[in-house]
Amino acid sequence: MAPIENSEERYGIIAILLHWSMAILVIGLAALGIYMVMLPDVGFNSEKIVLIIFHKEVGLLVFVLLLVRWVWRATQTMPALDSQLPDWQKIAARSVHLIFYFIIFALPITGWVMSSAAGIPVSFFGIFTLHDFVRHDDLLFHQLIELHRWLGFALVFFIFIHVSAALWHHFVFKDDTLRKMLP
Ligand code: HEM
Ligand code: HEM
Repeated sequence: MAPIENSEERYGIIAILLHWSMAILVIGLAALGIYMVMLPDVGFNSEKIVLIIFHKEVGLLVFVLLLVRWVWRATQTMPALDSQLPDWQKIAARSVHLIFYFIIFALPITGWVMSSAAGIPVSFFGIFTLHDFVRHDDLLFHQLIELHRWLGFALVFFIFIHVSAALWHHFVFKDDTLRKMLP
């Protein structure tokens, strides 16, 4: 079992739990997002509306977990990348991690501002409702839908690269890259 804190060699259990819980939620949200927007608009109680409300709540949960992850990360040593790796691979790996942090921050923010612009309040599992970020604005609403969509597609693209790299390291290079993110 991994120790609580990170070390030079591996991620600790808190970082591992945050990584995998967010990975599952984010992949689920992208799949749900793509599915729900394809459903036809019928009636107020349609499956589409229920799914969009659920998508927003889970999206906000990801945002809360992201803030926790950043605070935790700031207190931790970062495990070193394999010293055998060529520089370009180290830069590529770190860049994809940074891009992930940017995209997972930007998706909930654009989602929240988009909902405000549409005049629809965002509730967090009934615990609290977010204040509207901006006034009702149809043009902004449609621009943000586009931005949110492209961020979602970029996320899927980088997940593909990230997962391929992790599996390649594990099964082809047979190094510890994946193992250091496992309990
Ligand atoms: C990491 C978190 C999130 C991910 C990965 C994500 C991903 C996606 C994706 C892939 C779509 C489909 C886009 C399309 O094909 O048009 C979508 C749609 C949508 N998302 Fe998110 N989203 C996230 C967070 C949020 C949050 C926090 C909100 C609101 C508070 C939100 C509100 C919406 C809405 C309203 C739509 C439907 C837009 C439309 O009517 O076309 N999302 N999301
Ligand atoms: C589901 C398949 C996934 C696998 C097999 C996987 C694997 C890994 C591995 C092995 C690392 C450690 C890399 C290293 O330090 O050398 C890592 C780090 C990371 N992963 Fe994933 N990952 C997956 C999904 C995701 C998803 C969906 C996201 C986006 C939300 C993500 C975001 C990150 C970030 C940001 C880091 C860097 C952590 C840090 O140092 O702060 N991962 N991942």
